[in-house]
Amino acid sequence: MTVNGESTRLDVDPRESLLDVIRERLVLTGTKKGCDAGHCGACTVHVDGRRVLSCLTPAVQVDDAAVTTIEGIHGEDGALHPLQQAFVDHDALQCGYCTPGQIMSGLACMAEGNARTEDEVREFMSGNLCRCGAYTGITAAVLACAAEPGAGAN
Ligand code: FES
Ligand code: FES
Repeated sequence: MTVNGESTRLDVDPRESLLDVIRERLVLTGTKKGCDAGHCGACTVHVDGRRVLSCLTPAVQVDDAAVTTIEGIHGEDGALHPLQQAFVDHDALQCGYCTPGQIMSGLACMAEGNARTEDEVREFMSGNLCRCGAYTGITAAVLACAAEPGAGAN
């Protein structure tokens, strides 16, 4: 598979989740393990441009696919992605544990064309829980970034 643009070859156990491969074997620990059961969205990554819950995705299923994690979205020279900057600007995090998943979901939300209104963002990001209740800032950040020309690309 390709991970954040780099070709990666691994033998995986059929029982291994994509989340465990990303975190434990590739040591890309930006992707978080919250519930490990598909309920919280902390483990959201993109596979071939679509958001998936990596805790529910068998690693064998991404054979030959392109995986993007939070580590793969920055700009040149490590500059923050516009959505990451919007999270900072809109105070969209407290502890930060849910943030990588929120950002990967937010990017997908914009790419899907589902970030036009507050209601739309809330609905299409409803699978991403925030125990700190930073939803107002998260929604504002996604809306602000979506309003920037070209910011949905990743
Ligand atoms: Fe995957 Fe919670 S860790 S949905
Ligand atoms: Fe703490 Fe969302 S910022 S869980």
